[in-house]
Amino acid sequence: MQHFIKDPVFQVLADAARNMGFPAYVVGGYVRDKIMGRPSVDIDVVVVGNGIEVARQFAALTGQNERVTVFKNFGTAMVKYSADDDWEIEFVGARKESYRRNSRKPIVEDGTLEDDQNRRDFTINAMAISLQRESYGELIDPFGGLKDIDARIIRTPLDPDITFSDDPLRMMRAIRFATQLDFDIEIKTFEAIKSNASRIKIVSMERITDELNKIVLAKVPSKGFKMLELTGILRIIFPHMQDLKGAEFINGKGHKDNFYHTLKVLDNLSENTDNLWLRWAAILHDIAKPATKKYEPEIGWTFHGHEFIGSKMVPKIFARLKLPLNEKMKYVQKLVLLHLRPIVLAESHVTDSAVRRLLFEAGDDVDDLMMLCEADITSKNREKVKRYLNNFKVVRQKLVDIEEMDRIRNWQPPVSGEVIMETFDIKPGRVVGDIKTEIREAILEGEIHNEFDEAFAFMIKVGEKHGLKQVKPKPDVAPLPDES
Ligand code: CTP
Repeated sequence: MQHFIKDPVFQVLADAARNMGFPAYVVGGYVRDKIMGRPSVDIDVVVVGNGIEVARQFAALTGQNERVTVFKNFGTAMVKYSADDDWEIEFVGARKESYRRNSRKPIVEDGTLEDDQNRRDFTINAMAISLQRESYGELIDPFGGLKDIDARIIRTPLDPDITFSDDPLRMMRAIRFATQLDFDIEIKTFEAIKSNASRIKIVSMERITDELNKIVLAKVPSKGFKMLELTGILRIIFPHMQDLKGAEFINGKGHKDNFYHTLKVLDNLSENTDNLWLRWAAILHDIAKPATKKYEPEIGWTFHGHEFIGSKMVPKIFARLKLPLNEKMKYVQKLVLLHLRPIVLAESHVTDSAVRRLLFEAGDDVDDLMMLCEADITSKNREKVKRYLNNFKVVRQKLVDIEEMDRIRNWQPPVSGEVIMETFDIKPGRVVGDIKTEIREAILEGEIHNEFDEAFAFMIKVGEKHGLKQVKPKPDVAPLPDES
């Protein structure tokens, strides 16, 4: 394994440990990633002795003194070291107790390397490479991590009930690693997740969501969600998504299973984007289907207004999952709200005004919306899919053409409130807003162009309808539009 630690940084780590008189090993994610041929600049060093002292010594040897962060309670220290790569190196003392980097409880008992490996989460994360002179580069793999990497298996080193009760977040981590690395979870480990699922409740939502987001960002995220569902964890952490599962039948007529449909949309979309929030929009696009579901004998199953109710559900779901309640959330809300619009366009004759309205409402997010809608076509009927995709091409082209002509994205009213008030000598009030709305509608309907002269002339006409008289001539230069 020497070639995995041939970077000069490892020699310095070895010297630092030897100077302090402690055995030291590279462990965990770095070893796993290197064996798998994945890049990694995060090194975990386990020291059989005082990890903080070795960290300080390492910093002294590299001249990085000011970059040591010590977590005294945990007996760990972190050093950032920039050489050929930007390394982030974490030093921990070997311990008998479970690995508790994220827990508030301080660690208690020092241990041997073996103790430390015993208390790690998975066999593939419990391998160590020696930094000792006499065994430099040797792999210490007591649980067959190497074999499990070959077989692509996630398995706990100890009885999984023990490993998961040490830290129930590891149940999420098992599913996250399986999804990220495209591994399977060994049966006993999987069964233990099932029987311990309710223990996930003692873990903070922030930590759960960190793992969930890693699942969402995987190449094929559906894999993780299926496992979360099968183990019973999904029901606990994200019940709204669980509710999408299943199909109801009345008079022999069923609707599609919206859980699997949502996962298909998420996978489709994930082939084209790494945007976490766009992926969240896919997860949530049909979230209100259970709440709006109705069986109408004449038509069958309907989900009227699910896009509207769904977008209203987003803030609660984000709050529960401790996702940010900021513009990212608003973006997801907007996409959920608009997710049927392009498909409606593609189904019917595409009018210019409908395209203008879509541009007006989606603004710069219109391309993301189109991507979501294309991913939403999961029909098994090949002819239908072909027809939709062709129509989407027409919609996309129209979006480009009309934007070029009318500049509706990020639209600003060509005639400002000030101009309206000055021209008619009126005070701020409802009528100003009404006139502005009428101008906007005329532009979206294509009755007038999106430019000042036409909008001003139209404004005079609308003013007359409201009984207003022009008392000031048209300004020579179009004033800058105001915020609206
Ligand atoms: N670890 C553990 N139990 C946890 C968290 C971490 O046993 N709940 C151990 C594992 O040995 C893991 C190492 O600590 O390999 C480092 O943890 P972390 O940095 O969270 O994960 P990595 O394995 O490095 O993987 P990633 O960077 O993808 O999170």
